[in-house]
Amino acid sequence: MTVEERQPDLVPTTGSVQLVPDPRSLEALGRNHTLEAALAELVDNSIDAGARHVLIRFVRDGGRLVRLLVIDDGSGMGDNRIDIAMTVGGSRSYDDGEIGRFGLGLKAASFSQARSVTVVSAARGQNAVGRRWQMAKAKQDYRCEIVDHAFALSQLAHDWGFPPSQTGTLVRWDDVKGFPTVDNEAAVERFLQGAFAKIRAHLGLIFHRILDGTDLRLLLDVEDAGDVVLRTDVPSLDPFGYAKTGAAGWPKRIRAGRGTRKLVLECHIWPGRSNNDEFRLDGNLIERQGLYIYYNDRLVQWGGWNGLCHADKQLNLARIALNIDGDVEQMMSLKPEKNGVEVGPEFGPSVFAAAAAEGTTFADYTDRARGVLKDANRRRRVRQAVLPPGSGFAPKVRRAFSRELPLKDEDPIDIRWKRLPAEDFFEINREERVLWLNQRYRRALAGGRDGSLNDLPVIKALLFLLTENIFAGQNMGPRDKDNIEVWQAILTAAAREETS
Ligand SMILES: Nc1ncnc2c1ncn2[C@@H]1O[C@H](COP(=O)(O)OP(=O)(O)OP(=O)(O)O)[C@@H](O)[C@H]1O
Ligand SMILES: [Mg+2]
Repeated sequence: MTVEERQPDLVPTTGSVQLVPDPRSLEALGRNHTLEAALAELVDNSIDAGARHVLIRFVRDGGRLVRLLVIDDGSGMGDNRIDIAMTVGGSRSYDDGEIGRFGLGLKAASFSQARSVTVVSAARGQNAVGRRWQMAKAKQDYRCEIVDHAFALSQLAHDWGFPPSQTGTLVRWDDVKGFPTVDNEAAVERFLQGAFAKIRAHLGLIFHRILDGTDLRLLLDVEDAGDVVLRTDVPSLDPFGYAKTGAAGWPKRIRAGRGTRKLVLECHIWPGRSNNDEFRLDGNLIERQGLYIYYNDRLVQWGGWNGLCHADKQLNLARIALNIDGDVEQMMSLKPEKNGVEVGPEFGPSVFAAAAAEGTTFADYTDRARGVLKDANRRRRVRQAVLPPGSGFAPKVRRAFSRELPLKDEDPIDIRWKRLPAEDFFEINREERVLWLNQRYRRALAGGRDGSLNDLPVIKALLFLLTENIFAGQNMGPRDKDNIEVWQAILTAAAREETS
């Protein structure tokens, strides 16, 4: 019997040759990146360098878009560091909390978008330095060009519209593949509008914790023939930014796994009729349900269930926040593009085995999220239109009405105070659409204070809910009249009690 026959796993070898990657492989880097995802990689690096300002600038010349710059006031790089920075897979040690980890981001992002990338940088106490990768040259022999020192310095010393800094880095992309190749004004405008919207939405989302939790400012503008136009701040976009939870008692935590293999899933349920930017995100709701995974506060996955369940419309209110600060053995590992995670064999089983403190399971969570959406849809179907509340109601109360109920396109009901002849608490004037309240109880109800136009919002809202259909009906039937008599008697007694 030969060796192979006895040990089928064994591959016999007779030596080794070194096969370095062909420089051509550079071109394949980062092929998955969109423009906004590529920019996120550069912003990652600026954040790791401790920048307080990061500016993304499109440069337009003679109508045509010619380049893109990302400038920061972070700690910068000296000669040694910049060579490692430009190396594919270049390695250094990382501090806790840094977003960088693979040594790929800058190169993958840049080559996915541009045929030439220049980096100039200044670190404290060191000369400004610069390097340039040109795809056409790099592909032949991995040769990286050294940028003239004075040029590097002049670029960094330029006024970028944020406080000047001794240190910082500028990344410049020329020959950007995705830019329109025409100088047609309208086409360029359209491109910029679309790009701005995508960049704001994407960067606002993935950096929302960092934008909200630190003094980092992320700026976006266009330089057009020397003038700066369209400058905006990228605002944070919190995928958990609801005003009030969709279900009492939620979010709840589910702890999956144990020891070094532990993950804490914070399970949120959005309110049923949400329609704000934080809920809609890019509008693709079915893909925005599921796991939101943060790596050192940078979002590295924004939706998706990773095999825990199937995405379906009924689960649109379910979003889970999960923090990792590195790969979790057997459970989860980060993709180099930082646009998702791969889950290991223990992930699913340990989530299904886990229960929150009071015994809530993952199945309870998805059931509840489905239930909240179902209820909201049911309620929405049967809600009848009401007359709009008019003057006398605080604007926030009016907004709450219009959020919850369809409003008829008719004259509103005002609610006002005057001295009514008898001790009656209220009077309904259907012709003028006014609900009068008796002035004599006003001070007492307001706790001894003088009232203002929109005072006593709770009492007014309750009365509106009670009497709206009296105003809305064609004419008052005997039942309506009897109801008014009952309310009058009880509310007058209550109001007198307030004054006594
Ligand atoms: N704006 C910057 N300021 C300071 N240093 C930078 C900047 N951009 C890049 N660098 C340096 O270049 C290195 C390489 O960056 P690159 O994005 O390619 O990889 P990484 O951040 O180390 O890892 P990852 O692939 O996870 O992004 C960084 O580790 C950092 O040292
Ligand atoms: Mg990086």
